[in-house]
Amino acid sequence: MIFVTGGAGYIGSHTVVELLNAGHEVTVFDNFCNSQPEVLRRVARITGKQANLVQGDLRDSAALLAALRASGAKAVIHFAGLKAVGESVQNPLAYYDNNVVGTVRLLETMNECGIKTLVFSSSATVYGDPQRLPLSEDHPLSTTNPYGQTKLVIEEMLRDLYRSDPAWRIGILRYFNPVGAHVSGLIGEDPLGTPNNLLPFVAQVAVGRREFLNVWGDDYATADGTGVRDYIHVVDLALGHLKALERLAHHAECRAINLGTGVGYSVLDMLRAFEQASGKRVPYQVGPRRSGDIAACYADPSQALALLGWRAERDLASMCADAWRWQSGNPNGYAQAT
Ligand code: NAD
Ligand code: WQD
Repeated sequence: MIFVTGGAGYIGSHTVVELLNAGHEVTVFDNFCNSQPEVLRRVARITGKQANLVQGDLRDSAALLAALRASGAKAVIHFAGLKAVGESVQNPLAYYDNNVVGTVRLLETMNECGIKTLVFSSSATVYGDPQRLPLSEDHPLSTTNPYGQTKLVIEEMLRDLYRSDPAWRIGILRYFNPVGAHVSGLIGEDPLGTPNNLLPFVAQVAVGRREFLNVWGDDYATADGTGVRDYIHVVDLALGHLKALERLAHHAECRAINLGTGVGYSVLDMLRAFEQASGKRVPYQVGPRRSGDIAACYADPSQALALLGWRAERDLASMCADAWRWQSGNPNGYAQAT
């Protein structure tokens, strides 16, 4: 049994599918602050299996303790958190409270239950503005916004916890840019309001919900001047979590591992690939740089291969085709679900 915080969210729901498909039992713990219960009905349709659901907030220790005890879980995958960079600049305390305090409560509760195996969702944001590319795990850590700072604080807390008690088994997964959707088109990314991230915005332009894409700057030192990122298919990312759990079954450690493809694509590469996959035109306008953005960011994914036996298998065409299947089949996300 695996206990999955934030299991109704974008990456969590895709991971729950892969866990159920691999024969694990799953308990999802989620307060639905950025997701909807409908996603778990879709997960059940895809897998033919049902995850247990507990609606609750991480910071509610009593609810968390009851849910974790009742689950009988042997390990926790911790996705729950707030993730909007701009919002974290506006309201840093909400981010420290939800992400950092929420994680402290989770770790205390796990300790109380004697559960010491954890996979944590970190981010390439902890590398700050890259000093060298590709980014390997030993690159110096720094952050440029409160969201990133919460990830870094949690990473440091996990390293301290492991030093204090080496019975812990902790996998810190640093995701690059997750995109795409399950191949069924039944689950995918469903951002509230205007998407901050590139691919959901492009998808909403293609489906006619928005007029054009703003390209945030075309004067970076990259091949076409637009920002370059390491986009990774969310199903590949999900499978990385299963590999991390397998490794932790045999290793008591606290280790950070990149999950990326190692390949960088520009904003215009993404736009063209999405046009190809969707058969739709995606009009765009070039605007000024977005504050806090970096020119380029991509992973050295060699540790994931060496230590987890994992590598990303799905290419850019399938990232876009799967994102389009989800977006065109669910133009308003889960909201219009029946
Ligand atoms: P998401 O918002 O879709 O999922 C997060 C889930 O956690 C949501 O279902 C939300 O309702 C739940 N949640 C949030 N706070 C909670 C709380 N206090 N108690 C209970 N449930 C709570 O986000 P996602 O894209 O699936 O991201 C999952 C994790 O991966 C996050 O920690 C995020 O910071 C991290 N991450 C995401 C990206 C990305 O680009 N999507 C990149 C790197 C890291
Ligand atoms: C990608 C590229 C933009 C939107 C963010 C977080 C990071 C991680 C993933 C959680 C950039 C450009 C975007 C648009 C654009 N999240 N762009 N027009 O900024 O790499 O990473 O999400 O951990 O912490 O910072 O991703 O998808 O926002 O942007 O031109 O409308 O697309 O400038 O070059 P980013 P993104």
